[in-house]
Amino acid sequence: MENQVLKNIKKRRTIYSFKKEQVEEEKIEKILEAGRWAPSWTNTQPWRFVIVKDDDTKKEISEIFLEVFRKGIRDAAVLIIVFVDPDEDQYHFVEDGAVATQNMALAAESLNLGSTWIGVFDTENEEKVKETLNVSKDLRAISALPIGVPEDVPEKGRKDISSLILKEI
Ligand SMILES: Cc1cc2nc3c(=O)[nH]c(=O)nc-3n(C[C@H](O)[C@H](O)[C@H](O)COP(=O)(O)O)c2cc1C
Repeated sequence: MENQVLKNIKKRRTIYSFKKEQVEEEKIEKILEAGRWAPSWTNTQPWRFVIVKDDDTKKEISEIFLEVFRKGIRDAAVLIIVFVDPDEDQYHFVEDGAVATQNMALAAESLNLGSTWIGVFDTENEEKVKETLNVSKDLRAISALPIGVPEDVPEKGRKDISSLILKEI
């Protein structure tokens, strides 16, 4: 019963190193389209994306984050920063931004690209990201998602399903 969606969900890994390769514009458009079609509270779609391809800006942003992410951000073909507008959804803006991020990570996987989910929301980096990109202080930054051709795909495991199910009633 494995289909492509289920395979991509399992195959997606957080990628820390990318090849310095361009990605076709069409693929980036498809990834953004996957973000656009994410579910959100009462379909408010409060997400706003900043798409960074410029090398100098990627470098500047990379310096905000921990060393482990810096080279990946610089080498990735594109860096998508997911913001949300809490005025559009005051209740669930974090989940909205998160689900858009995951949709894009899965879309990238389906196109044989890799991504890194870097948490930004409510960290000391959030203000720095907004300042660097000159984004309104009223928006909240949810994630930074470098996307590109993976160099290494790390292995990761998951807890056993039996330890995740609290009850089956
Ligand atoms: C909300 C969120 C924030 C994350 N922030 C970080 C982070 O700050 N540093 C990091 O190394 N990985 C971060 N990750 C990636 C996780 O470490 C990774 O998803 C987890 O280890 C499972 O690995 P996998 O994505 O390869 O399956 C984040 C993931 C999520 C969903």
